Amino acid sequence: MKTKDVVSLSDQYLSRMYKHSFAFAPERGVDDMVYSKEGAKYIDLYAGVSIVNVGWSNRNVVKAVESQMRKLFHTTSTYYLDYMALLAKRLAEVSPGGALTKSFFTNSGSESNETAISLVKRVSKRPYILALHRSFHGRTFYAMSALGQAMWKTGLGPFAPVVFAPDPFCYRCPLGHKGCPECGYACVEYMEDVFRCEVGGESIAAMLTEPMLANGGMVVPPSDYFKEVKRLLDKYNILLIIDEVQAGNGRTGKMWGIEHFGVVPDVLTTSKAIANGLPLGVTTYRESLDEDLRPGENYSTLGGNALSCAAAVAVLDELQGGLIAKAGESGDYFKRRLEQLKDKHPIIGDVRGVGLFLGLDLVKDRATKEPAKEAAAKFQQDLFRRKVLVGLGGLDGNVIRIEPPLVLSREHIDACVEEFDAAFSAMHH
Ligand SMILES: Cc1ncc(COP(=O)(O)O)c(C=O)c1O
Repeated sequence: MKTKDVVSLSDQYLSRMYKHSFAFAPERGVDDMVYSKEGAKYIDLYAGVSIVNVGWSNRNVVKAVESQMRKLFHTTSTYYLDYMALLAKRLAEVSPGGALTKSFFTNSGSESNETAISLVKRVSKRPYILALHRSFHGRTFYAMSALGQAMWKTGLGPFAPVVFAPDPFCYRCPLGHKGCPECGYACVEYMEDVFRCEVGGESIAAMLTEPMLANGGMVVPPSDYFKEVKRLLDKYNILLIIDEVQAGNGRTGKMWGIEHFGVVPDVLTTSKAIANGLPLGVTTYRESLDEDLRPGENYSTLGGNALSCAAAVAVLDELQGGLIAKAGESGDYFKRRLEQLKDKHPIIGDVRGVGLFLGLDLVKDRATKEPAKEAAAKFQQDLFRRKVLVGLGGLDGNVIRIEPPLVLSREHIDACVEEFDAAFSAMHH
């Protein structure tokens, strides 16, 4: 099939709910490159929204999946399944502090969050979830209810019980402060006000949050943020669920994004890259929470299917075989190069991120920080013409998202920076 045929067939038969960035129909991917139907090669800085951290067509993942698919695709979890048990053991070993030792498997990030939410509510007998503005947790009902971006919720309420607090977006502090820690972590203080004024801390089962807001604009909280948050949550016996669907799986130079903050969550969710693009949702939690759950309490027919679990074990092997450290090093280098671009191009208001979780916040004016939404969309299109794939994000759509496969080569970083430079230069003219 040619690209134009894929486009016309899609336009005819696919739901209007699909939003296509541009007329691109990928045929295959290798490492950090994706090829179009016509054979054109693109450097991939988006990894299908962070779903192939160990690289497209990773040979060891393919081998693991092939070998499993000849034996068994999947069967019901009412039997004992070796592939599930083996993956659960590996996940316990790599969990933050080795403290989360129990796992439940589903098919997606949304479901991993649904599972986490029902789990903490069951255990705590409390009705509410606390979430952050600008967050993203998926499109199933409770995950969407906890999503902090109104554009995807308009008209769909009333929602499941959630209270929201301002997010730690220091570049454009929602509380108007100029810097952290000078603000005294005002957003955490405000959180306690939310408890006291809205539903009471005793009504909140858990806080659900990404370690770094991905979709909301590649926002990295200040270094002591989660320590401050944890102190407050502990005061009210509120559990902490960390959504690692996008920031996790080695992307930030550590296995999990939360590991940058010196805090161990009670529940961790992941999906996307954990099985390198095969459907898998993971909810991993402390053993102490397990005591209040009943056998049969949750069930997912295809969740934790054999192919996804086999892929995930191979992914963990690859990540632990040096790829996490490489992500950290490549990210440091890439970020330095982007900061050099910022010196040259005033449209770049902020360069942020950790490891290969990077964002460029484009602004119309550095003083006002007014989001440059149209310019960001134009930049993405221009980069596509230059054979580089990037994502867009942020509530205002002005953040360039850089989340490549972690195998991204140094040569490709340099090539991309050159294309960025040329694309930004073309914008001045
Ligand atoms: C942080 C985060 N949580 C949850 C989800 C939802 O995952 P899924 O689309 O697999 O349901 C996403 C998807 O983009 C995400 O980025």
